[in-house]
Amino acid sequence: MRILLLGSGGREHAIALKLTQSPLCEKLFIAPGNAGTSQCGTNLTFGFNDFDAIKKACIDEKIDMVMVGPEEPLVNGITDFLMSSPALKNIAVIGPGKNSAQLEGSKAFAKAFMERHNIPTAAYKEFTLANYQEGIKYIQNHSLPIVMKADGLAAGKGVVICNNHLEAVAEFELMIQRAKFGEAGKKVVIEQFLRGVEMSVFVLTDGKNYVVLPEAKDYKIIGEGDKGPNTGGMGAVSPVPFANESLMKKIEERVIIPTINGLQKEGLDYRGFIFLGFMIENDEPYMIEYNCRMGDPETEVVMPRLKNDLVELFQAVAEQKLDTIKIETDERTVCTVVAVSGGYPGDYKKGYEIHGLQDINPADSVVYHMGTTLKDGKVVTNGGRVFCVTSYGRSIYDAVAISKEEIEKITFTGMEYRSDIGYEFD
Ligand code: AMP
Ligand code: GLY
Repeated sequence: MRILLLGSGGREHAIALKLTQSPLCEKLFIAPGNAGTSQCGTNLTFGFNDFDAIKKACIDEKIDMVMVGPEEPLVNGITDFLMSSPALKNIAVIGPGKNSAQLEGSKAFAKAFMERHNIPTAAYKEFTLANYQEGIKYIQNHSLPIVMKADGLAAGKGVVICNNHLEAVAEFELMIQRAKFGEAGKKVVIEQFLRGVEMSVFVLTDGKNYVVLPEAKDYKIIGEGDKGPNTGGMGAVSPVPFANESLMKKIEERVIIPTINGLQKEGLDYRGFIFLGFMIENDEPYMIEYNCRMGDPETEVVMPRLKNDLVELFQAVAEQKLDTIKIETDERTVCTVVAVSGGYPGDYKKGYEIHGLQDINPADSVVYHMGTTLKDGKVVTNGGRVFCVTSYGRSIYDAVAISKEEIEKITFTGMEYRSDIGYEFD
C-alpha cells in the first residue's frame, strides 16, 4: 500500500513510524513532514492545506491511502475533496468529511450534537451579534468562573476562562464586536465551568463500528506544577491511573456509543479518529470537547502502546470492517516529555541546531520530532514544540525518569522542558 500522511508534528512522526512498521506499507510519503518523518519515508514539499498539490501527489505517486493528521485540512474539507475526485476513485481517506469534522470545527455544533444525543457535558448557550444583549445578561447572571469559547478553529487559543463578570463582558465584546478570534469566533459558546481532572480517550471509527485506543493524559500548561499559560502540550502519560474499568465503561456507554450512533442517525459519515476530551469529577465523565483527529503529544504515548498493525487498522476503517479488529495494548506505562524553544508559548526563535539526537538509548526510548527541519544536512529547530522523548517504564515515575535521563543527552540553544510530567501520580 502506498500511503500519504498529511501533517508535520510529533503526532505525524509517531504515526509515520508506526506505519513503516507494517509489512503492508510499501511506500510512505509525508507532506510536509519534519526532519523525523524524513527517516520514515519521503517528505513532500507542499503544505497540508494545499489541496491541489495533495491531489496531484496522490495521482503522481499512485497513492492508495491518505491519512490526515491535523484538524485544519479536515475542517476545510480535504476528505470530501479527494473522495469526490474522479481521478482518485479508489483512494481511501482516513479522516472525517467536512460535515463530520464540525465536531471540532464548531464548538456550537459540538455542543448541540451532545445535547441532541444526551451526552454529559457542561450546560451552555450560544451567542452572536444577533443576541448580543441577551449574552451580556446571561454573563452577568452566570456563576463564576465563566468559560467562553470562540466557535471556530482558533489554533488552540479560542477558550477564555474568566474569574469575574467584568472581565467576561469585556472578552465577550472583544470576541463578538471586534472578532478577536476571527470571523468564525464571532459566534461564542458560554458554558458552565467543570471541575475535576482531565483525560483524553481516542476512538477509531469506520462510521458503523469503533475501537477504543489506549487513553492518555496530557500536560497543557508550560510551567511545572501546572503554572503559567497554556501550550499545545508539554508531555503525556498512558495509561491514566484513575481510568479504571468502571470509568471506561461509563465513557463507552454514555459518550462513545451515543456519539457513533448519533453520527449515523444524522447521516454524518465518519472514518477516522475521534478524540474525546473529558473532565472527570468523582468518577463521573463530562465531555469538554471533540477533536476530529488524534492529539499531540498524546499520539506519542498511544502509538507505542498499540500492538496492532496500523495499516491493517486503517484498511479496516476504509472498508468498514473494524468489527473484525481487536485492539491489543502493551501493558507497560509510556510517558513522553516535550522539549520546547525558549520563550514558547510566546515568541521564540527558530533555526538552532539540535545536537545529540543519535545518543538516545533505543532500548526504552524513542525521539519523536515535532518542530524540526533539515538545513544543510543538519537537524534544526523549526517550531515551539521541538521534539519529545517517549519512554516505556514500569510506572509513570519510572518512564518519566528514563525520558528525562535521555532528554538530557540532547541540546539546542534555549531548550526547555517540564521535569514534572506525571507529578500527581508519584
Ligand atoms: P478546548 O479548546 O475546548 O480544548 O479547551 C481548552 C481547555 O480549556 C481544556 O483543555 C480545559 O482545560 C479548559 N476548559 C474547556 N472547557 C472547560 C469547562 N467547561 N470547564 C473547565 N475547563 C474547561
Ligand atoms: N494535546 C491536545 C491536542 O492535541 O489538542
